[in-house]
Amino acid sequence: MIFIAGGTGFIGQHLLRALKEKDYKIRCLARSHERAEACKRKGFDAVIGDITERDSLKNTLDGVDMVVNLVGIIEEKNDMTFEKVHVEGTRNLVDEAKKAEVKHFFYQSALGASLSSWSKYHKTKAEAEEIVRTSGVPYTIFRPSIVVGHGDGFTERIRELLKVGPFVPVPGTGNAKLQPIYVEDWVRCFLKIIDNPEAISKVYEFGGPEHLTYNKMVKVIMDTLEIKKPILHIPMGIAKMGLPFMSGIGRIAGIFGKKIPAATSEQLGLLAIDNICEPDSVKKNFGFEPLSFNKAIKRFIKK
Ligand SMILES: NC(=O)c1ccc[n+]([C@@H]2O[C@H](COP(=O)([O-])OP(=O)(O)OC[C@H]3O[C@@H](n4cnc5c(N)ncnc54)[C@H](OP(=O)(O)O)[C@@H]3O)[C@@H](O)[C@H]2O)c1
Repeated sequence: MIFIAGGTGFIGQHLLRALKEKDYKIRCLARSHERAEACKRKGFDAVIGDITERDSLKNTLDGVDMVVNLVGIIEEKNDMTFEKVHVEGTRNLVDEAKKAEVKHFFYQSALGASLSSWSKYHKTKAEAEEIVRTSGVPYTIFRPSIVVGHGDGFTERIRELLKVGPFVPVPGTGNAKLQPIYVEDWVRCFLKIIDNPEAISKVYEFGGPEHLTYNKMVKVIMDTLEIKKPILHIPMGIAKMGLPFMSGIGRIAGIFGKKIPAATSEQLGLLAIDNICEPDSVKKNFGFEPLSFNKAIKRFIKK
């Protein structure tokens, strides 16, 4: 039995579909009755809980062989801080996994995770990794670069930005490099670590086959959608200063049926730095060639 926390999210949904095809027995953690019922309708066992609430996890891992922690946030909301969700949440799940004598704990970290990072997202991902690594439970950690595919937040935001006005706003120079990986390739990597003793105690850093600037990624999406608009670079300082006004502008735009994607100062900061690893990381670690960004985008973006 595989227990999945975060199975209701973007990557989780793709993973669940693939695991179902392979007839794995799955138990999903869902945060609401509605989501638990949706999981059950798809044929999975489901329990209601929140990884930040230890008591809600009690006995949910009975009979579980592998725990998959895909839970993550990219923005702090109310009391759901990076510390609480990534660090405390992972600690709760690991403690429960120890109690249930789980054989394999998978943690989804992120490329750039580091205890010395200025980014709270990356720092707390690294802290969660430490908890997993020192738990005594056999583990595997993934540090993927940005994952794209049907339902991902990143390309969805770019699509929304493309619709807003006569030009496409890009915060900063847009020259920082990313290494997007197609979600179905991420799933292929994941399938290779199940029941694989070689994957135990491993931390895999990986991404797609190319290092692409944010500008290039925007261009690829524009070309695929056959949209022709000039890109307007907004100096990072100005973009960050404008953030407090953006929620108000977003609300007004909403009245006119336009959606302006929100961003945080930290997310803008991350857009200014490279987030890459070896271009052949998937081939080296998992033995196959992942799709290029251009090909991946064409698989899931509809004009
Ligand atoms: N997408 C990427 O490009 C990317 C790249 C590198 C690493 N990652 C990491 O990969 C993981 C999955 O990413 P994603 O893009 O699939 O994220 P996502 O779509 O935002 O999904 C997040 C999942 O976490 C669940 N969740 C959030 N807080 C929770 C809590 N307190 N207790 C239980 N469940 C909670 C959400 O449940 P609800 O459905 O109830 O909200 C959802 O199922 C995250 O850890 C992310 O940091 C993602």
